[in-house]
Amino acid sequence: MNQVLEEIMKSGYVKSPSGNLIKVRSNITKEEGAFLTEIIAELKPNATLEVGLAYGISALYICQAIKKYPNPRHIIIDPSQNIDWGGLGLYSLRRAGYQEIIDFYEKPSQTVLPQLETMGVKVDFAFIDGWHSFDHTLVDFFYIDKLLNVGGVVAFDDSNWPSISKVIRFIIKNRSYTVFRYLPSTLSPLRLNSSFKYNVFMRAKAFFRKVGAFRMGIDPNSSCVALKKEAEDNRRWDFHRNF
Ligand SMILES: C[S@@+](CC[C@H](N)C(=O)[O-])C[C@H]1O[C@@H](n2cnc3c(N)ncnc32)[C@H](O)[C@@H]1O
Repeated sequence: MNQVLEEIMKSGYVKSPSGNLIKVRSNITKEEGAFLTEIIAELKPNATLEVGLAYGISALYICQAIKKYPNPRHIIIDPSQNIDWGGLGLYSLRRAGYQEIIDFYEKPSQTVLPQLETMGVKVDFAFIDGWHSFDHTLVDFFYIDKLLNVGGVVAFDDSNWPSISKVIRFIIKNRSYTVFRYLPSTLSPLRLNSSFKYNVFMRAKAFFRKVGAFRMGIDPNSSCVALKKEAEDNRRWDFHRNF
């Protein structure tokens, strides 16, 4: 494992340029890092992209994995790297020796992704871990799909969140994507979160949402789901399947 990544995952802290230690937060887990690494080992992509850098944990895993292949490039998008994260994601990537293989955009994904499409950028793997609302995640997917080669994979972090699982349901029902892999959860598949405070109706809705995910071949409690693009979009203009 890259020494900087290993040091961060062991200690739970990132180092600042002045040597201060800052507690890592909002990051992917080591299981999710291994999950992304496995996907990349199978795809052997040259070009990858991620939305949401924060302290750079997923970026370190992705860069470590693609560094093995010829001419690796990793595009990273995050509007708040210097505002909210003290530039420490980029600093860790530099420390880890990945500066040469990254292209960083310090703007919101909804601005950058259409620009990348105009530039003709293509990628084989993308990871979405940015603003977690339904509409932002759907917009991220919409543009990433235009950049993704057929056979490529897009992975969603926090895929067990209602907003994200709804986007995944839309994609599987309406688009030529299949479940490539998901990270199995240790929870029983239909178990509701114990902190679920809502009424019977809300609990029933959550239960049926989980059954829906189960029927699509996904562990409903999985925190990371990867979908494979099987074909370019060839739907009629008025195509719609309920999801
Ligand atoms: C959950 S954190 C990402 C964690 C990171 N993937 C890791 O493993 O360390 C979410 C990130 O999304 C970024 N973000 C928020 N809105 C965004 C947007 N519109 N476009 C891109 N990134 C965004 C935030 O600044 C934050 O860094």
